Amino acid sequence: MTRNLKKTGRNDPCPCGSGLKYKNCCMNKVTQSQTESLADKYLRIHKIRLKEPKDIEGIRASGTLVMATFEEVKKILVPGTTTEEINTLVHGFTVKNGAVPAPLNYNGFPKSVCTSVNDVVCHGIPGDYVLKDGDILDVDITTILNGYYADCNQTFFIGTPSTDARHLVDVTRECLKRGKEMALPGNTTGDIGWTIQHYAEAQGCSVVRELVGHGVGFSFHEAPEVAHFGKRGHGVELVPGMVFTIEPMINLGARHVRTLDDHWTVVTKDGSLSAQFEQTFVITEDGCESLTPFEL
Ligand code: MF3
Ligand code: CO
Ligand code: CO
Repeated sequence: MTRNLKKTGRNDPCPCGSGLKYKNCCMNKVTQSQTESLADKYLRIHKIRLKEPKDIEGIRASGTLVMATFEEVKKILVPGTTTEEINTLVHGFTVKNGAVPAPLNYNGFPKSVCTSVNDVVCHGIPGDYVLKDGDILDVDITTILNGYYADCNQTFFIGTPSTDARHLVDVTRECLKRGKEMALPGNTTGDIGWTIQHYAEAQGCSVVRELVGHGVGFSFHEAPEVAHFGKRGHGVELVPGMVFTIEPMINLGARHVRTLDDHWTVVTKDGSLSAQFEQTFVITEDGCESLTPFEL
């Protein structure tokens, strides 16, 4: 088929359909796509707030404090420690450094950190649980420093892990690593999700669907959602200035979850082990950078 590439003449009917001559109508108008910034477009279409360099600096500083908090937490991750003691440490260290623990009072959450043991998928509430040899424990720390949020979690072994636990935690860390590798401009959120799901399921594990990664920085949970499953090419196209988490929750058994009567604690339905790793990433011109880095 031959396309009609003839330019609209000054005296031709305007292609906008107004019935006026082109010269008296749209000829000198600049279209929205020619003037609208990427930031305005992403806000309008996706409700995503892109971050400027000064914002990224702020989130990075918050992330640096999160990682310093993890260094303190690691020192007490031994059998006999209670999850309440982890909460006390995270709360005190965060406040001492001029920041605010984001979980505290967030939608009514009662503590300053999430501690999720064994079959707890996420949002475990610190309390009198005493860690024991062989447990796996996810610690999820989110800090607000100078108004900027950074969100990160890691699963740790308490004492010596079972072979199963080691397998699950290795697979989950690798899921985050592979998800991160897909986080580059031109790819989509669906590419991240597909990659994680494909790997986890090939390793005999399952991906939790009910909880997803999220935009972060100006507040705790922003657009977009970053699912850890899905289809390649689906979702939102990644562009420089996007800041979001990837935080796969991977189960050794079935993917299904339920929430306990405390309205927070999410556990696996079948009682199987669940692990998670999370970092906050910023999309750059040629890839991504972790603002809460740890080795993957
Ligand atoms: N840090 C969690 C996340 O990764 C959210 C915890 S919400 C809370 O999105 F209220 F439980 F703290
Ligand atoms: Co998160
Ligand atoms: Co988190």
